Amino acid sequence: MSNPTMNTVDQVLDALNHQDIATIPLVLYEILLMSRNPKADANDLATVCKKDISGSARLLRAANSIYYGRRLDQPKVNTLKEAIVRLGFKRAQEIVLSATLSPLMMAQGSVMDYSSTALWKHSIAVGIGNRLLYARAFGVDMSLDPYLVGLLHDIGIAIEHQALFSKGFSEAVQKRYENETELLTEEKLIMGVTHEDIGVAVAQRWSFPDYLIEVIGHHHSLDPNRHQNHHLIHINRVSEWISYFLSLGYCDFARPYAELLSESRQVLGLTQEDVREVSLHLKAEMQGFVGMNWFSSTQQQVA
Ligand SMILES: [Fe+2]
Ligand SMILES: [Fe+2]
Repeated sequence: MSNPTMNTVDQVLDALNHQDIATIPLVLYEILLMSRNPKADANDLATVCKKDISGSARLLRAANSIYYGRRLDQPKVNTLKEAIVRLGFKRAQEIVLSATLSPLMMAQGSVMDYSSTALWKHSIAVGIGNRLLYARAFGVDMSLDPYLVGLLHDIGIAIEHQALFSKGFSEAVQKRYENETELLTEEKLIMGVTHEDIGVAVAQRWSFPDYLIEVIGHHHSLDPNRHQNHHLIHINRVSEWISYFLSLGYCDFARPYAELLSESRQVLGLTQEDVREVSLHLKAEMQGFVGMNWFSSTQQQVA
Protein backbone atom coordinates (compact mmCIF):
# COMPACT_ATOMS: atom_id res chain seq x y z
CA MET A 1 0.00 0.00 0.00
CA SER A 2 1.14 3.55 -0.67
CA ASN A 3 2.49 5.70 2.10
CA PRO A 4 -0.41 7.88 3.38
CA THR A 5 1.87 10.87 3.80
CA MET A 6 3.49 10.49 0.40
CA ASN A 7 1.52 13.11 -1.50
CA THR A 8 0.69 16.67 -0.61
CA VAL A 9 -1.21 19.25 -2.61
CA ASP A 10 2.05 21.16 -3.12
CA GLN A 11 3.73 18.06 -4.55
CA VAL A 12 0.81 17.57 -6.94
CA LEU A 13 0.97 21.21 -8.06
CA ASP A 14 4.72 20.83 -8.52
CA ALA A 15 4.19 17.77 -10.71
CA LEU A 16 1.64 19.73 -12.76
CA ASN A 17 4.26 22.34 -13.59
CA HIS A 18 5.83 19.76 -15.87
CA GLN A 19 2.60 18.98 -17.71
CA ASP A 20 0.28 20.70 -20.15
CA ILE A 21 -2.40 21.12 -17.50
CA ALA A 22 -0.25 23.63 -15.56
CA THR A 23 -2.17 26.46 -17.21
CA ILE A 24 -5.90 26.87 -17.63
CA PRO A 25 -7.05 26.03 -21.17
CA LEU A 26 -7.48 29.31 -23.04
CA VAL A 27 -11.01 28.61 -24.20
CA LEU A 28 -12.14 27.63 -20.70
CA TYR A 29 -10.67 30.87 -19.35
CA GLU A 30 -12.31 33.02 -22.03
CA ILE A 31 -15.72 31.41 -21.61
CA LEU A 32 -15.48 31.90 -17.85
CA LEU A 33 -14.90 35.59 -18.54
CA MET A 34 -17.73 35.64 -21.05
CA SER A 35 -20.14 34.11 -18.55
CA ARG A 36 -19.65 37.24 -16.43
CA ASN A 37 -20.36 39.58 -19.35
CA PRO A 38 -24.10 40.03 -19.99
CA LYS A 39 -23.35 41.73 -23.32
CA ALA A 40 -21.48 38.72 -24.78
CA ASP A 41 -23.11 37.40 -27.95
CA ALA A 42 -22.75 34.81 -30.73
CA ASN A 43 -19.95 36.81 -32.42
CA ASP A 44 -17.86 36.79 -29.21
CA LEU A 45 -18.38 33.06 -28.74
CA ALA A 46 -17.49 32.34 -32.39
CA THR A 47 -14.26 34.34 -31.95
CA VAL A 48 -13.33 32.30 -28.87
CA CYS A 49 -14.25 29.02 -30.57
CA LYS A 50 -11.90 29.69 -33.45
CA LYS A 51 -9.00 29.28 -31.00
CA ASP A 52 -9.93 25.65 -30.37
CA ILE A 53 -10.20 23.41 -33.41
CA SER A 54 -11.75 20.44 -31.66
CA GLY A 55 -14.31 22.66 -29.88
CA SER A 56 -15.23 24.29 -33.20
CA ALA A 57 -15.57 20.94 -34.93
CA ARG A 58 -17.76 19.57 -32.15
CA LEU A 59 -19.94 22.68 -32.22
CA LEU A 60 -20.55 22.41 -35.98
CA ARG A 61 -21.21 18.72 -35.65
CA ALA A 62 -23.72 19.30 -32.84
CA ALA A 63 -25.59 21.96 -34.80
CA ASN A 64 -25.80 19.62 -37.81
CA SER A 65 -26.66 16.54 -35.81
CA ILE A 66 -30.21 15.28 -35.76
CA TYR A 67 -29.41 13.95 -32.29
CA TYR A 68 -28.80 17.43 -30.96
CA GLY A 69 -29.46 20.65 -32.81
CA ARG A 70 -30.89 20.00 -36.26
CA ARG A 71 -34.42 19.25 -37.34
CA LEU A 72 -34.75 17.02 -40.40
CA ASP A 73 -36.19 19.88 -42.47
CA GLN A 74 -33.28 22.21 -41.72
CA PRO A 75 -30.23 22.63 -44.00
CA LYS A 76 -26.74 22.09 -42.59
CA VAL A 77 -24.92 25.08 -41.10
CA ASN A 78 -21.48 26.01 -42.41
CA THR A 79 -20.16 28.62 -39.99
CA LEU A 80 -19.59 28.77 -36.26
CA LYS A 81 -21.94 31.73 -35.93
CA GLU A 82 -24.75 29.86 -37.68
CA ALA A 83 -24.07 26.88 -35.40
CA ILE A 84 -24.30 29.07 -32.28
CA VAL A 85 -27.54 30.67 -33.45
CA ARG A 86 -29.11 27.27 -34.18
CA LEU A 87 -28.06 25.69 -30.89
CA GLY A 88 -28.73 28.79 -28.81
CA PHE A 89 -26.01 30.79 -27.07
CA LYS A 90 -26.05 28.91 -23.76
CA ARG A 91 -26.17 25.43 -25.25
CA ALA A 92 -23.37 26.36 -27.63
CA GLN A 93 -21.28 27.57 -24.67
CA GLU A 94 -21.93 24.28 -22.88
CA ILE A 95 -20.84 22.23 -25.88
CA VAL A 96 -17.64 24.22 -26.40
CA LEU A 97 -16.81 24.05 -22.68
CA SER A 98 -17.45 20.31 -22.53
CA ALA A 99 -15.25 19.78 -25.59
CA THR A 100 -12.51 21.94 -24.06
CA LEU A 101 -12.47 19.75 -20.97
CA SER A 102 -11.93 16.63 -23.03
CA PRO A 103 -8.14 16.91 -23.54
CA LEU A 104 -7.76 18.09 -19.95
CA MET A 105 -9.52 15.02 -18.66
CA MET A 106 -8.24 12.39 -21.05
CA ALA A 107 -5.48 10.19 -19.68
CA GLN A 108 -4.36 6.63 -20.24
CA GLY A 109 -5.30 3.88 -17.87
CA SER A 110 -8.61 2.60 -16.54
CA VAL A 111 -9.34 0.78 -13.30
CA MET A 112 -12.52 -1.20 -12.64
CA ASP A 113 -15.44 1.18 -13.36
CA TYR A 114 -13.14 4.20 -13.78
CA SER A 115 -11.76 5.69 -16.98
CA SER A 116 -11.14 9.30 -17.94
CA THR A 117 -13.87 9.07 -20.60
CA ALA A 118 -16.33 7.78 -17.99
CA LEU A 119 -15.38 10.69 -15.70
CA TRP A 120 -15.87 13.17 -18.54
CA LYS A 121 -19.28 11.66 -19.26
CA HIS A 122 -20.22 11.92 -15.58
CA SER A 123 -19.13 15.56 -15.50
CA ILE A 124 -21.25 16.48 -18.52
CA ALA A 125 -24.25 14.55 -17.14
CA VAL A 126 -24.02 16.34 -13.77
CA GLY A 127 -23.67 19.67 -15.59
CA ILE A 128 -26.84 19.08 -17.62
CA GLY A 129 -28.65 17.74 -14.53
CA ASN A 130 -27.63 20.85 -12.60
CA ARG A 131 -28.98 23.16 -15.28
CA LEU A 132 -32.32 21.29 -15.41
CA LEU A 133 -32.65 21.03 -11.62
CA TYR A 134 -31.69 24.65 -11.01
CA ALA A 135 -34.45 25.86 -13.33
CA ARG A 136 -36.98 23.68 -11.47
CA ALA A 137 -35.83 24.59 -7.98
CA PHE A 138 -35.38 28.32 -8.52
CA GLY A 139 -37.55 29.03 -11.54
CA VAL A 140 -34.81 30.62 -13.64
CA ASP A 141 -32.40 29.32 -16.23
CA MET A 142 -29.38 30.86 -14.54
CA SER A 143 -26.52 31.74 -16.93
CA LEU A 144 -23.86 29.08 -17.20
CA ASP A 145 -23.15 28.59 -13.51
CA PRO A 146 -24.99 25.35 -12.64
CA TYR A 147 -23.63 23.66 -15.75
CA LEU A 148 -20.08 24.77 -15.00
CA VAL A 149 -20.41 23.51 -11.44
CA GLY A 150 -21.30 20.04 -12.69
CA LEU A 151 -18.73 20.02 -15.44
CA LEU A 152 -15.88 20.97 -13.09
CA HIS A 153 -16.86 19.59 -9.66
CA ASP A 154 -14.64 16.48 -10.04
CA ILE A 155 -11.75 18.22 -11.81
CA GLY A 156 -9.55 17.07 -8.90
CA ILE A 157 -10.04 13.44 -10.01
CA ALA A 158 -8.80 14.27 -13.53
CA ILE A 159 -5.73 15.94 -12.03
CA GLU A 160 -5.07 12.99 -9.72
CA HIS A 161 -5.29 10.64 -12.68
CA GLN A 162 -2.61 12.62 -14.52
CA ALA A 163 -0.32 13.36 -11.57
CA LEU A 164 -0.81 10.43 -9.18
CA PHE A 165 -1.98 7.42 -11.20
CA SER A 166 0.79 5.15 -9.97
CA LYS A 167 1.22 7.02 -6.68
CA GLY A 168 -2.00 5.88 -5.05
CA PHE A 169 -4.78 7.03 -7.38
CA SER A 170 -5.29 3.72 -9.19
CA GLU A 171 -5.20 1.91 -5.84
CA ALA A 172 -7.80 4.31 -4.36
CA VAL A 173 -10.10 3.77 -7.35
CA GLN A 174 -9.69 0.00 -7.02
CA LYS A 175 -10.45 0.04 -3.28
CA ARG A 176 -13.47 2.30 -3.76
CA TYR A 177 -14.87 -0.27 -6.16
CA GLU A 178 -14.05 -3.31 -4.04
CA ASN A 179 -15.16 -1.81 -0.71
CA GLU A 180 -18.19 0.01 -2.18
CA THR A 181 -17.12 3.17 -0.39
CA GLU A 182 -16.51 6.76 -1.41
CA LEU A 183 -13.41 7.62 -3.41
CA LEU A 184 -12.77 10.45 -0.94
CA THR A 185 -12.42 7.93 1.92
CA GLU A 186 -9.93 5.78 0.01
CA GLU A 187 -7.98 8.83 -1.21
CA LYS A 188 -7.46 10.01 2.37
CA LEU A 189 -6.29 6.55 3.50
CA ILE A 190 -4.05 5.79 0.54
CA MET A 191 -2.77 9.13 -0.75
CA GLY A 192 -3.26 11.55 2.14
CA VAL A 193 -4.97 14.04 -0.19
CA THR A 194 -8.40 14.06 -1.82
CA HIS A 195 -9.78 15.23 -5.15
CA GLU A 196 -11.53 18.04 -3.24
CA ASP A 197 -8.13 19.29 -1.92
CA ILE A 198 -6.46 19.01 -5.30
CA GLY A 199 -9.44 20.43 -7.18
CA VAL A 200 -9.45 23.52 -4.95
CA ALA A 201 -5.71 24.07 -5.36
CA VAL A 202 -5.96 23.91 -9.15
CA ALA A 203 -9.13 26.02 -9.23
CA GLN A 204 -7.37 28.70 -7.18
CA ARG A 205 -4.34 28.57 -9.40
CA TRP A 206 -6.61 29.01 -12.43
CA SER A 207 -8.48 31.89 -10.72
CA PHE A 208 -11.86 30.22 -10.93
CA PRO A 209 -14.74 32.24 -9.46
CA ASP A 210 -15.33 31.72 -5.71
CA TYR A 211 -18.58 29.77 -6.11
CA LEU A 212 -16.83 27.20 -8.30
CA ILE A 213 -13.95 26.84 -5.86
CA GLU A 214 -16.41 26.25 -3.01
CA VAL A 215 -18.36 23.54 -4.84
CA ILE A 216 -15.19 21.81 -6.08
CA GLY A 217 -13.85 21.80 -2.51
CA HIS A 218 -17.03 20.73 -0.72
CA HIS A 219 -19.27 18.74 -3.03
CA HIS A 220 -18.78 15.75 -0.67
CA SER A 221 -18.48 17.75 2.55
CA LEU A 222 -21.34 20.23 2.54
CA ASP A 223 -21.86 22.40 5.63
CA PRO A 224 -24.92 24.62 5.01
CA ASN A 225 -23.89 26.93 7.86
CA ARG A 226 -20.45 27.60 6.43
CA HIS A 227 -20.87 27.34 2.69
CA GLN A 228 -22.26 30.38 0.96
CA ASN A 229 -23.21 28.46 -2.18
CA HIS A 230 -24.91 25.58 -0.41
CA HIS A 231 -27.85 25.77 -2.84
CA LEU A 232 -25.51 24.97 -5.75
CA ILE A 233 -23.92 22.12 -3.77
CA HIS A 234 -27.39 20.69 -3.03
CA ILE A 235 -28.27 20.93 -6.74
CA ASN A 236 -25.01 19.16 -7.62
CA ARG A 237 -25.76 16.41 -5.08
CA VAL A 238 -29.19 15.71 -6.54
CA SER A 239 -27.71 15.66 -10.02
CA GLU A 240 -25.02 13.18 -8.91
CA TRP A 241 -27.74 11.03 -7.35
CA ILE A 242 -29.72 10.98 -10.61
CA SER A 243 -26.59 10.31 -12.70
CA TYR A 244 -25.70 7.39 -10.42
CA PHE A 245 -29.06 5.68 -10.91
CA LEU A 246 -29.01 6.35 -14.67
CA SER A 247 -25.44 4.95 -14.88
CA LEU A 248 -24.21 8.05 -16.67
CA GLY A 249 -20.45 7.70 -16.48
CA TYR A 250 -18.18 7.26 -13.46
CA CYS A 251 -19.53 8.03 -9.98
CA ASP A 252 -16.99 8.30 -7.15
CA PHE A 253 -19.33 6.70 -4.60
CA ALA A 254 -21.51 3.65 -4.02
CA ARG A 255 -25.20 3.10 -3.35
CA PRO A 256 -25.33 3.94 0.40
CA TYR A 257 -23.82 7.37 -0.29
CA ALA A 258 -26.13 7.84 -3.29
CA GLU A 259 -29.12 7.32 -0.98
CA LEU A 260 -27.79 10.09 1.30
CA LEU A 261 -27.60 12.49 -1.64
CA SER A 262 -31.34 12.22 -2.12
CA GLU A 263 -31.80 14.27 1.09
CA SER A 264 -30.79 17.32 -0.90
CA ARG A 265 -33.92 16.89 -3.02
CA GLN A 266 -36.10 17.64 -0.01
CA VAL A 267 -33.90 20.57 1.03
CA LEU A 268 -34.45 22.11 -2.39
CA GLY A 269 -38.19 21.44 -2.29
CA LEU A 270 -38.05 19.26 -5.40
CA THR A 271 -40.68 16.54 -5.81
CA GLN A 272 -40.30 12.95 -7.00
CA GLU A 273 -42.06 14.10 -10.18
CA ASP A 274 -39.43 16.83 -10.69
CA VAL A 275 -36.71 14.19 -10.42
CA ARG A 276 -38.53 11.86 -12.80
CA GLU A 277 -38.91 14.56 -15.45
CA VAL A 278 -35.34 15.81 -15.06
CA SER A 279 -34.13 12.21 -15.41
CA LEU A 280 -36.02 11.83 -18.69
CA HIS A 281 -34.63 15.10 -20.08
CA LEU A 282 -31.13 14.27 -18.89
CA LYS A 283 -31.20 10.86 -20.56
CA ALA A 284 -32.44 12.39 -23.80
CA GLU A 285 -29.73 15.08 -23.80
CA MET A 286 -27.03 12.52 -23.05
CA GLN A 287 -28.26 10.39 -25.94
CA GLY A 288 -27.47 13.39 -28.14
CA PHE A 289 -23.82 13.26 -27.07
CA VAL A 290 -23.72 9.49 -27.50
CA GLY A 291 -25.26 9.88 -30.97
CA MET A 292 -22.40 12.20 -31.86
CA ASN A 293 -19.90 9.56 -30.64
CA TRP A 294 -18.48 11.75 -27.89
CA PHE A 295 -17.93 8.77 -25.61
CA SER A 296 -17.27 6.12 -28.22
CA SER A 297 -13.86 5.16 -26.78
CA THR A 298 -15.42 4.13 -23.50
CA GLN A 299 -17.06 0.82 -22.72
CA GLN A 300 -19.77 2.66 -20.81
CA GLN A 301 -22.88 3.70 -22.65
CA VAL A 302 -25.87 5.72 -21.60
CA ALA A 303 -28.38 3.53 -19.86
FE1 LIG B 1 -19.06 13.60 -9.18
FE1 LIG C 1 -16.35 13.96 -6.26
